[in-house]
Parts: sequence; structure tokens; C-alpha cells
Amino acid sequence: MPLSLDSRKRDILATMGVEVWGLRGDGGVDAGVAGEDVAGDSVATEVNAAADGEAAAVVAAAEMPAPATVKGTVESAAAAADPPSTVSADTVAAAESTAETAAAESTTAGESTTVAADSLARVAAEVAACEQCELHRARNNTVPGGGNPRADWLFVGEAPGRDEDAQGEPFVGRAGKLLDMMIAALGMKRDTVFVANVLKCRPPDNRDPLPGEIEMCEAYLHRQLALIQPKVIVALGRVSAQALLKTGDALGTLRGAAHRYGPAGIPLVVTYHPAYLLRSPEQKSKAWDDLWLAKGIAEAEAGGAALDVS
Ligand code: URA
Repeated sequence: MPLSLDSRKRDILATMGVEVWGLRGDGGVDAGVAGEDVAGDSVATEVNAAADGEAAAVVAAAEMPAPATVKGTVESAAAAADPPSTVSADTVAAAESTAETAAAESTTAGESTTVAADSLARVAAEVAACEQCELHRARNNTVPGGGNPRADWLFVGEAPGRDEDAQGEPFVGRAGKLLDMMIAALGMKRDTVFVANVLKCRPPDNRDPLPGEIEMCEAYLHRQLALIQPKVIVALGRVSAQALLKTGDALGTLRGAAHRYGPAGIPLVVTYHPAYLLRSPEQKSKAWDDLWLAKGIAEAEAGGAALDVS
């Protein structure tokens, strides 16, 4: 089922010079490296690409291919998806004031502490003081993540890059702009979702996170997930997918199916990292399939439909 964008939304996006999602650099053409699925997701290239200058939004919604049919029983959930609705700023503000109370009422099996004693602010404060691994030595800021504490959607990237380290916010660089467009294409805004990373500090030269770093940092992400209890998690890229699913499987193997995360069994969909999509724009249609799959799941979960996923 193709995304239905009404003419009003299309007009708004056109006014902004944004035609749903797609970025290209000053040269007008993305560096299109047709990489392997397994390779297509490292942050390092994105940060280098950010130095290329301001990105421009270019790809028309009409140009986005209709998503391919998704696998298995998730198909019906995706097919049931209605056009997206946007949560207002007021709704978000109201949600923020009650979210931590709501979260405090639940507990998560498998964690050594209950969610009752936890909060997103506390996680962020502990991250800010964290010196568990060597990454704290060179950081300018920790990047705990942010967004709507009651979000239905939680996007998880790999680790902060240069811009994120400078600002203390996730996905503020060029890949972040593309992520915003992906979120907009789903009918949402950044502040209606929650965005976090597996690592909360920038690895030097944006190298891949080391297994030990992931191990030491992942409890923060687990706590955030337990507090927010999203309806769907979108793992952006190989590092995020492998860390969340505790697997060494390749990205290409993990895409296209709905997984479950953690003891609470939160549905999880794997897609390409936006930094990879900047380098390999020809893969955007596959990413769109993934987002559409996630959208069907989120809406099925919101409607209380039992979703049969792996
Ligand atoms: N890439 C990531 O994985 N996370 C960020 O926050 C920015 C770029």
C-alpha cells in the first residue's frame, strides 16, 4: 500500500522545499555507493559527508516507490495501516508531564532494578556522569537521546558523531536531517518520537563501537526502552540492530521482518542507517519498505491487534 499524502501535506512540504525525504549535497548528486547490505551503515562516512555543506531536500513523495510486500503475518498489519496522524505540541507537552508517572507504574522483567525507581532524567544524569569506558575522556557532551517520553516510535542509531558530541543531541548532522525526513514521511515530527543511540558518547574518529563499549552502555538504552515502552522500535543500521537483537546476523538478513525486543517483546524493525542512505540513495526504497512495515506494526499495536511476529 503506498503512503497516502494528502495535497495539503504535500503543499506544506513543498513550501518548505522538502519533498518528503531525500538529501543531496551541493554537488546535486548523492555519492551513490552501491554497497553490500552488511556494509551499509557506518556513521563514519556521514560525519565526513557533513563537511560537504548544507544538504538540500529533493526527493518527491511521488517519486517514492510503493513499498514491496512484507513478509509473513506482518503483511496484514502493514496493509491495515491508515494515513498517519500528527501529535500536536500540546499533546506532547501533556504527555511529558505524565510520562514518567506512567512509566513508574510498570516493572520490567529481566532487569535487576524495577522501572518504578527510574526516570529518563535519571538515566540522562547517570550518562552525563558515566566513566565506565574510555569514551568519556574525549567527549564534549554525552548524548543520552531525546524526544517524546511517551513516544510510540523509538529510533535507535549507533553512536553520536561530531555534531551530536558538540550539541549533546542525537542525529543533528546531515544524517539527522534525513532521519527527520523519514519521520516526516511517516506523518510525524521529531518531537513526537524518541531518538537514541546504542552508545551515548562519540567514538574517536567515528569508528565503530567496540563490543565492550556496547556492553557497558547498553543498560542505559534498555532502561530508556523500559520507561518509554514504545509500540515499535526502529533499529537504524547494523550496529544498532545487532546490539538490540543480540545477534551477529547481517543487516540484509535482519531487514524485512518484524522482530521482538527484550522481555516485553516490543516489536522491532531493522532498516538502513540514514548515513548509509546518504551514500547509497538507491536503497531508499528498501528503507521505505521497512518504515512502512514499522508503521503497520505501530498502528496494529495501537489498535490492540495481536501481532504475530518472530
Ligand atoms: N549517527 C548515529 O548513529 N547517531 C547519531 O546520533 C548521529 C549519527
